[in-house]
Amino acid sequence: MKKIYGVIGDPVAHSLSPVMHNAAFEKRGMDAVYLAFRVSMDELGDAIRGAKSLGISGLNVTIPLKEQALFFVDAEKVAKKIGAINTIDFSSGRPVGYNTDGIGSLRVLKETAGEIKGKSVLIFGAGGAAKAISFYLDTEGAKVTVANRTKERAARLASKLSNADAIGLDVELKERIKDSDILINATSVGMHPHENATLVTADMMHPDLVVFDIVYTPMETRLLKEATRAGVKKIVNGVKMLVYQGAASFQIWTHEEPPIEVMEEAVTDALIRTS
Ligand code: ATR
Repeated sequence: MKKIYGVIGDPVAHSLSPVMHNAAFEKRGMDAVYLAFRVSMDELGDAIRGAKSLGISGLNVTIPLKEQALFFVDAEKVAKKIGAINTIDFSSGRPVGYNTDGIGSLRVLKETAGEIKGKSVLIFGAGGAAKAISFYLDTEGAKVTVANRTKERAARLASKLSNADAIGLDVELKERIKDSDILINATSVGMHPHENATLVTADMMHPDLVVFDIVYTPMETRLLKEATRAGVKKIVNGVKMLVYQGAASFQIWTHEEPPIEVMEEAVTDALIRTS
């Protein structure tokens, strides 16, 4: 029987997950389909219970449901710590929650920066994405500085990590960046339609940095352009994180090796088509 997967969120129409996962199912010759379901916060519990009753195999959870969804699943340890899930697996007969945003970003960073242990990471943002990324980096033994416009939010996040501090954006960022190995933008700054916005310019960066932007519309953000101007060689865009979090969900659900290249191509094509 055809297996059904999907993403729940509100809004959800523009999600790239259907195109990415359907390409992966096709590549692996699996009899499966991935759909987008618009679910409001009020209907979240019913939607998850209903999905289980209907025999849906797996779900992704997106904005604004990631935190609330935690209350309707058995969550994996790190997901519980992060306080948000983006993946539900129903294969054990009960909904089990995971946070593959963190897993995906860690894979991106390991591939680009190598060993994470002992690295100094400056991460901009203290929202859901920043939380997921910094919990995984902290678990790997990085020294994390959380930089956020609302400093109290940064302080709250840093206090939950084992080796982290918090700053506002009003400090001398160049000095902080000088001491960092990895710089991550986990805010929405630079996202369409504000393509010209960036929190960091070329004069503040050094060539040995790894620069990673989670924003993927546009694929090359102003931050990444500035990094190129600064001579930074290790630059990663948000498509990789999107693909790797999707790949981690795919693996949890199917126990099959995700066809990463096919998934990345499907996402890139869709982004080019809609830009
Ligand atoms: P998500 O779950 O996608 O991370 P979020 O929880 O709304 O979304 O968080 C968005 C992040 O982007 C926050 O860290 C936010 O800073 P505040 O906590 O001060 O709101 C940051 N952000 C959004 N717009 C920003 C801007 N123009 N300048 C600086 N930071 C911004």
